[in-house]
Amino acid sequence: MQIRLAVISNAGGSGKTTLSVHLAYELAKHQYNVALLDLDPQGSLTLFCGLNPPEPEQTLAAVLKDKFDGAWPLTPCWSQYTNKVAVCQGGMILTQTADELVLHKRGAYLLADCLTDYSLMHDVIIFDCPATLGPLPLMALAASTHMIIPVQLEPKSIQGAAHLLEWYYYHCKHLRLNPAPEILGFVPNQYDARRSTHRQMLAALPEQLKEMKIRAFLPIRDSAEFVNASGQGLPLHIYRPGHPAKDDFKDISSYLVTLIGKPKTNKKTK
Ligand SMILES: Nc1ncnc2c1ncn2[C@@H]1O[C@H](COP(=O)(O)OP(=O)(O)OP(=O)(O)O)[C@@H](O)[C@H]1O
Ligand SMILES: [Mg+2]
Repeated sequence: MQIRLAVISNAGGSGKTTLSVHLAYELAKHQYNVALLDLDPQGSLTLFCGLNPPEPEQTLAAVLKDKFDGAWPLTPCWSQYTNKVAVCQGGMILTQTADELVLHKRGAYLLADCLTDYSLMHDVIIFDCPATLGPLPLMALAASTHMIIPVQLEPKSIQGAAHLLEWYYYHCKHLRLNPAPEILGFVPNQYDARRSTHRQMLAALPEQLKEMKIRAFLPIRDSAEFVNASGQGLPLHIYRPGHPAKDDFKDISSYLVTLIGKPKTNKKTK
């Protein structure tokens, strides 16, 4: 089954793009073809994937135009290391797209429509969303089969996540998403075991989520190497292959592997 995973959080800097790229690389190692779609006007995937800034017609904004003909602008990334990850880049042009979405008759469903009309053959499509609850994440929600929520172990971030859940339940109902995308789980990010508040909040999280039947994945540790790796446009697996923090994504990737099943045989996915 194709997984369309929206990485959503209304807190800036919670680790959406970091999670997106590391999951993409982990899944590629498991032989899955992965498309990373950048829904963020900041266009962080361009940096994190070591790509050149795109022309507007080479971004997701072009895909969302009425005249889109199905030629997805996908750029391979980390191609020295894998042939299984491709990126549809974002950027400032998406601010204009967000304005247009509000006026478009199918606004929230536009990305879902594109994926129906011009399907991507990848095993996994990851939507890296901006830190708002505006039209772009809403469109990701309507196009996704699953959603994953990175959170920092800070009161503000946890409170933000509670608002995000309200947003999720409201819009799944309002947009009549049937089936609604499943919440895969929360991912505690930038965990520092030396900080007692982090330890306490990490311990409390599964209990807080249990009532809503939401999983808390194992935490991603705080490491300056994530910042360094992203600056080089690489996942930690390539930047520092021996670094233990790269293994922090295994809990999530093994869950996804079970969910997806066998990779599609090496079909050309562009
Ligand atoms: N586990 C971590 N340890 C240390 N630094 C991290 C970790 N995860 C992310 N970072 C760094 O924190 C910053 C924010 O991360 P990232 O860009 O992934 O967050 P984001 O949620 O996508 O942000 P935005 O809301 O701006 O899109 C980046 O500099 C990133 O390298
Ligand atoms: Mg980001």
